[in-house]
Amino acid sequence: MAGLKGRDILSLVELSPREIDLILKRSSLLARRRTVPQKLKGKAVALIFQKPSTRTRVSFETAVAQLGGHPVYLSWNEMQLGRGETISDTAKVLDRYVKAIMARVYSHDDLVVLAETADAPVINGLSDKHHPCQILADLLTLIQYKKRLKGLKLAYVGDGNNVCNSLLIGCAKTGVNIAVARPPGYGPDPEAVKYAEEAAARSGASISIVEDPKEAVRGADAVYTDTFVSMGMEKEKETRLSAFIPKYQVTRTLLSHAKPGAIFLHCLPAHRGEEVTADVIDDAQSAVWDEAENRLHTARGLLSLIM
Ligand code: CP
Ligand code: NVA
Repeated sequence: MAGLKGRDILSLVELSPREIDLILKRSSLLARRRTVPQKLKGKAVALIFQKPSTRTRVSFETAVAQLGGHPVYLSWNEMQLGRGETISDTAKVLDRYVKAIMARVYSHDDLVVLAETADAPVINGLSDKHHPCQILADLLTLIQYKKRLKGLKLAYVGDGNNVCNSLLIGCAKTGVNIAVARPPGYGPDPEAVKYAEEAAARSGASISIVEDPKEAVRGADAVYTDTFVSMGMEKEKETRLSAFIPKYQVTRTLLSHAKPGAIFLHCLPAHRGEEVTADVIDDAQSAVWDEAENRLHTARGLLSLIM
């Protein structure tokens, strides 16, 4: 293990299973502590957002502040980036002020340019391809509820989007069997699937991508869904909703095919009545609020290890 200090985290591809385990262990250790070590004392962290956010913004701002650092929230359109200053010029300037950059962008390629130019570590706060920080929180939630990862089964029902791509990789690396149910034409990124299959071969996890949600959910320890219309896809809303609803909506009936005691997960924000019914989110089986809280714990764990 080369160590996490100074590393860019653009996806879970860059993290070994041992490193993921280390981040999760550090996150749960810090979650139990009233005060956290001031690892970021005197250090500023830029938080760039090209899209809206509640959880990612607040968890990172809070994590940086609790670790003794200074979070600098930057809205893309209020920066000169929004007026055409290049990403690489921006990266060179930010390097003179901050010790790390977290960015939420439309195009993953922009993150790659940012990471290639900036000396400071760059963390992906969501791109069109990946959402690694979310999946760290999801894995921590699975551990809290199910006391292990290896051998669990997670069913992801819905759009093969950024969250699905990162879940495939995160589950494959940590030995969680994952079944994805999606309509034809809405599957995960083939590169993410290929990568996840290679990781699964090493961890012993299984990966299946099917059309029937019941088949995916059968015997699952956790059922996960995300919006059918990700940020940036608003123009496709009607076509997408008709491709997914009602078949891919997570309802109590669909959940009844999972294992007794299965939990419901969602990265949030949820669109009640679209990808999930309100009774499922509000049910005792739902772990979504703990999952959201875990965004803070994993942001603290991750930042304290890479800085
Ligand atoms: N899950 C998540 O990333 O939420 P936000 O869009 O609110 O940051
Ligand atoms: N797939 C969603 C996740 C939001 C946290 C999106 O990209 O909009």
